[in-house]
Amino acid sequence: MKDKILVIGASGQIGVELTLALRKIYGNENVVASDLREQSPLLEGKGPYVSLDVMNKEMLHVQVIRQNITQIYLLAAVLSATGEKNPGLAWNLNMQGLLNVLDIAREEQIKKVFWPSSIAVFGPSSPKQNCPQQTIIEPATVYGISKFAGEFWCHYYYQRYNVDVRSVRYPGLISYKSAPGGGTTDYAVEIFKAAVEDKKYECFIREDTYLPMMYMPDAIRATIELMESEAKKISIRTSYNLSAISFSPKEIAAAIQKHIPAFTIQYKPDYRQKLANGWPQSIDDSVARKDWGWQHEYDLEAIVKDMLDNTPAIN
Ligand code: NAD
Ligand code: SER
Repeated sequence: MKDKILVIGASGQIGVELTLALRKIYGNENVVASDLREQSPLLEGKGPYVSLDVMNKEMLHVQVIRQNITQIYLLAAVLSATGEKNPGLAWNLNMQGLLNVLDIAREEQIKKVFWPSSIAVFGPSSPKQNCPQQTIIEPATVYGISKFAGEFWCHYYYQRYNVDVRSVRYPGLISYKSAPGGGTTDYAVEIFKAAVEDKKYECFIREDTYLPMMYMPDAIRATIELMESEAKKISIRTSYNLSAISFSPKEIAAAIQKHIPAFTIQYKPDYRQKLANGWPQSIDDSVARKDWGWQHEYDLEAIVKDMLDNTPAIN
């Protein structure tokens, strides 16, 4: 049977670009975009779209059957900063949304499911440098707790029901096609718009705070490479560490200043500083590199150049 993919949360920062990339591979008509909110102008008229609430299991089930879905990418979630403002919402959506998808995948024998975890599974007691795949995991945010629990639900459904669910722990993602949705690493996206439009930025993270980051094209490629790998190569059924680069606000500001010398940055840390302090500064993703050949392409300079070339397009 031909593959038919459902992307849930397709209007979000990752969803727009992942849907575009999947449509290139599988054909526009074989990738169904879905979200609670309206579809992105970048997707409009270029393939099927359904309005869908992942919390409504019955409606989700009907769509999966009606559209003959064989693969699901679940991206709908509340991210770290928004989660701290509304812990109940974050827990409900991040857990129940995943359980709805896993249950339907099991009942309908969906071939493959993708669900992303995050560096936020790690907490203050995890190693700060080159944080390994297996280590102390004691998340300190509701978002991190939901990702940690989600990873083990994925593992459970794989072990017990043979649901082929795959996952990576994304670092902070930098992109220009769709705005970020309420994370702590969003500063590394906002800074570009501010640099281009105002030549100044007030950063909510301290200048010396290092976090793991990745450019969206690398993240999309990682996701699709993992999903297209042979099942026998996948040794991690919780979630793979995934890494590209690490930098601080001071370093990204300096890289922008090479292109926009008048750009200035000020620092006014807020509640998000504590979240960032709890996460590793860099990640060891050697297991992903060994199992399915992961390699990142973009370094900080390449990211900054491409972002500045495209930043007027941020909506
Ligand atoms: P986002 O907030 O930009 O997008 C999420 C999308 O889900 C939004 O378009 C939203 O409208 C939709 N949504 C929310 N509730 C829904 C519901 N009930 N039913 C259907 N759709 C709903 O998030 P993102 O940055 O694209 O993140 C996607 C996934 O990747 C999340 O699981 C997130 O935790 C994970 N992740 C993202 C990053 C990052 O830096 N962006 C890093 C690590 C992990
Ligand atoms: N970019 C995400 C956040 O800051 C990490 O999962 O919430």
